[in-house]
Amino acid sequence: MGLNNTSTEWGWLSKLFHWLTAALIFIQIPLGFYADSLKLSAWKIDVFVWHKSFGMLVFLLLVVRLLWRIKSTVPVSLATSKLQKILASTVHALLYALMFALPISGWIITSAANLPVKLFWLIPLPAITDPNSELKALAAEIHELCVFALIALLALHIAAAIRHQFVLADSAIKRLWF
Ligand code: HEM
Ligand code: HEM
Repeated sequence: MGLNNTSTEWGWLSKLFHWLTAALIFIQIPLGFYADSLKLSAWKIDVFVWHKSFGMLVFLLLVVRLLWRIKSTVPVSLATSKLQKILASTVHALLYALMFALPISGWIITSAANLPVKLFWLIPLPAITDPNSELKALAAEIHELCVFALIALLALHIAAAIRHQFVLADSAIKRLWF
């Protein structure tokens, strides 16, 4: 298994980006709802430190991943029709957009709420806005909308992967797995 993508298979770095991000996202969604549901306590703050740290890690991975994707070959699409091809690229583009919008809106909530945070208790996250309660409420609204869009798109994305595996019986999952 090579480092670079080929026209028929993803290279190991692209695979690692996809699955590491997927694992973090699957942790992030329940963790966010859980953190939000807690009453103010030291535990709630700790859970939010995890949420913010994993979330910023998703953002960092997104940036490196997109740089890597721009300079790489991308395996040819396995779509069986023009419509499917458009649908797949639209869902993928929206997933990338959400991996950007979620961390940035989260970062704005934290900054506008004037809540200093150290990622993994080590790296201070600089504020990107001045304290502002209206902006905080707006960013929280956007964060939540993005969460629901993400859940809906992931349902489609995973259903499509299952269809490729069991109905079309092609190499879609295999060429992305280690
Ligand atoms: C059980 C979970 C998942 C499965 C089975 C899965 C499966 C796949 C498969 C088979 C592809 C390959 C498409 C191709 O080769 O053309 C793919 C691509 C992709 N996946 Fe997933 N995925 C999962 C979770 C996620 C998650 C959580 C995200 C991020 C939120 C995600 C984002 C993407 C993106 C952006 C692509 C497009 C890659 C590109 O062309 O740049 N996936 N996924
Ligand atoms: C992959 C990225 C992320 C995902 C999937 C995600 C998901 C979630 C979910 C499911 C919730 C609970 C529902 C809600 O209230 O909106 C939530 C809340 C929250 N998240 Fe995130 N999040 C991500 C990144 C971040 C980042 C990077 C930060 C901060 C640096 C952050 C800060 C917050 C805050 C402050 C709340 C509570 C919002 C409120 O006051 O209502 N999130 N997130």
